[in-house]
Amino acid sequence: MGEKTKIILDVDTGTDDAVAIMAAVKHPDIDLVAVCSVAGNKPLVNTTENSLRVLQALGSDVPVYRGCAQPLVKSITPTRIPDHGGTMTIVDGKEYHVHPEYLDLPASKRSFEELPAPMFYVDYLRKAKEPVTIVAVGPLTNLAVALLMDHDIVRNISRIVIMGGGDRCANRTPVAEFNIWADPDAAQWVIHCGADILMVPLDATVCTAFTKEDAEDFRRLDTFCGRFCADLIDLRIDADRAINPTCPDYNTAIHDALALVAAMDESVLRDVEQVRCDIGLADFAEGATLITRSKEFLTDEFEKNVRFAFSADKERYKAELMRLFAM
Ligand code: BDR
Ligand code: CA
Repeated sequence: MGEKTKIILDVDTGTDDAVAIMAAVKHPDIDLVAVCSVAGNKPLVNTTENSLRVLQALGSDVPVYRGCAQPLVKSITPTRIPDHGGTMTIVDGKEYHVHPEYLDLPASKRSFEELPAPMFYVDYLRKAKEPVTIVAVGPLTNLAVALLMDHDIVRNISRIVIMGGGDRCANRTPVAEFNIWADPDAAQWVIHCGADILMVPLDATVCTAFTKEDAEDFRRLDTFCGRFCADLIDLRIDADRAINPTCPDYNTAIHDALALVAAMDESVLRDVEQVRCDIGLADFAEGATLITRSKEFLTDEFEKNVRFAFSADKERYKAELMRLFAM
């Protein structure tokens, strides 16, 4: 058996982040070094506690480093402050949340580590004896701050796998995916840091959306992970239905766990292309994932900087999660 892959998981937990944490802990070939929390789906206090709750439920003592509570720049422009309006609604007095404030798990008995997440990245990566894979499935603030503190840490990053962005898909504005929109400046910094970057955008994750029938398959595994994954799929579909009653697709993409699975086995992705990608930083393009296609601009100055997955294989993804959650 080969060496395990060292992974740092950066999350804004979050329902689909929770599934990514479970997959990382359960994966027999992953050495999960740390979980770093960031504000995103919910404020930092919630995303940190939710990460700790999932780890506790799994009996895992992987350290959690609390990260940034605000985006790099966005928070200083009042009209750009994230809100969570699009992910909750009240129907007949009942609240529906795509990401509840706190996951329905026992409160964590332990706390996060003392070192803030960006300082952890710098400290750990400076000393690392072997390169580490970073799977980032929330806004990219922690990594951007760490790279600003010490860009040399790139040497010890073997790859950054990002759940974020979209070419033909968007979910926060007509042109922007949530993680990138929540901190576009950080995203632009990270995708140009010189590391090997694999982007798992909405174009890929929506191909793998799970239905209530899929949830039942997970539930039948009769393990904690199988049941909790099923509950989260049901919760997300119920919330989507309540928020968009006319939406015909009663399914939900578990975006973040796809990035985690892809970090270990890229064959779960389809149509992966090396592209030049930039992030829109202002006005209508804020948070948009901009792919340069005109050949005359693909010069040395505008080098291709990321591998971008335009599609993915749902059956492979589901089979891998079923394998991990059966353990
Ligand atoms: C991404 O945004 C968040 O709401 C999810 O956790 C996922 O990381 C999908 O756009
Ligand atoms: Ca997330």
